[in-house]
Amino acid sequence: MSRLKVFITGQIPLVGVDLLKPHFDVEIYSQSKAIPRNLLLEKVQHIDGLLCILRDKIDRELMDAAPRLKTISQYAVGYNNIDVDYATQKRILITNTPGVLTDATADLTWALLLAITRRVVEGDKTMRRGEFKEFDPLFMLGGDLAGKTLGIIGAGRIGTAVAERSAGWKMKILYYNHSRNPQLETKLNAAKVDLQTLLSKSDFVSIHLPLTAETHHLIGHKELSLMKSTAYLINTSRGPLIHETALVKALQDQQITGAGLDVFEHEPQIAKGLGDLENVVLTPHIGSATITARNKMAEIAAQNIVNWHFKKEPVYIVNSEVRGN
Ligand code: GLV
Ligand code: GLV
Repeated sequence: MSRLKVFITGQIPLVGVDLLKPHFDVEIYSQSKAIPRNLLLEKVQHIDGLLCILRDKIDRELMDAAPRLKTISQYAVGYNNIDVDYATQKRILITNTPGVLTDATADLTWALLLAITRRVVEGDKTMRRGEFKEFDPLFMLGGDLAGKTLGIIGAGRIGTAVAERSAGWKMKILYYNHSRNPQLETKLNAAKVDLQTLLSKSDFVSIHLPLTAETHHLIGHKELSLMKSTAYLINTSRGPLIHETALVKALQDQQITGAGLDVFEHEPQIAKGLGDLENVVLTPHIGSATITARNKMAEIAAQNIVNWHFKKEPVYIVNSEVRGN
C-alpha cells in the first residue's frame, strides 16, 4: 500500500518534519514566503493530511479541491483562517497547538506593555538619533504599573498567564470572559466584570480572545471612548478584534495614552497613520516566536497528524464532532 501524503505549506522546525517522515510521504513548500494560492490548490489534490500556517486560507474552495483530505493540522492555537464548519461538514478533522505557546505569548504581552508604558522604543530611537544630551528631570516620563488595574479580555490559558505575571506589580485584576475563572479569582483575587466595567476601570487592557464573528471589532470607537485617558491597550491575539482605524483616531486624539500591538486587522499591512504615532509599539505577530514554543508547536502539529493516522486521539482537536473518522 502506498504511503499517505502529507503536505506542509511552509518551513517549520525540523522536529515536526522528522516526526512525520517515518509514516508519510512528506512534501514541504520550502520557500520562505507564503505558498501561492494556485500552487496550494494544486498541491492539495492528492494529499491526505495538510499541515498549514495562519497565513494560508483554508476555505471551501481548497477543501473541495482536495478529495482525499482527511485532516488539517493548524500550526497555531488560533484557527480563524480555516472554515471549520465546512471542514466538519466534509468530515475533515482539524487540530491545533494550544498550551505550548502560552508562556511565549504571555511574555510578549508583557514586553509590549512595559515597552509602551516606559517608552522603551521611543527611548531607543532617541539614543540612535544622538538626541540624548543630558539627564533631564522632565524627560520621557511614562506610566506606572505598581498597584494599577489590569483588565484581561478573554481569560483562557494565555489571558490567565498574563494575569499571573502581574503579581510582581501587585496589580488588581479584572477579567471579562464567558465563564468564571476560579484559578484567577483564588490566586489573584480577580473579579469577573462586564466589558464596559473592564474598559472604564482598567489602566491596562489586554486582549486574549480568539477571532470569531462575535469578537470581530469587539473594540471600536465606543469601547475606546470608555477607556481612561491614561490607559493602555495591548493586543497579542488577533488584529480584527480591534477596529484599527478607530484605534488610530483614539491614539491621535490621545483619548487613550498608548497601545502595544503584535497583531493587525489586515496583516501584514497596518492602518493608515498607525506607523506615524509615537504612542504605540508594534511587533510583527511574534507572540509565539520563541525557539521552544515554535519547536513544540511543530511537534504537536505533527503528532496530531500521526495520532490521527494511528487512530489515536490527536493531542488537540478543534472539531471533535469529526473524531474517529
Ligand atoms: C499564533 O498566533 C497562534 O494562534 O498560534
Ligand atoms: C489559548 O491557548 C488560550 O486559551 O488563550
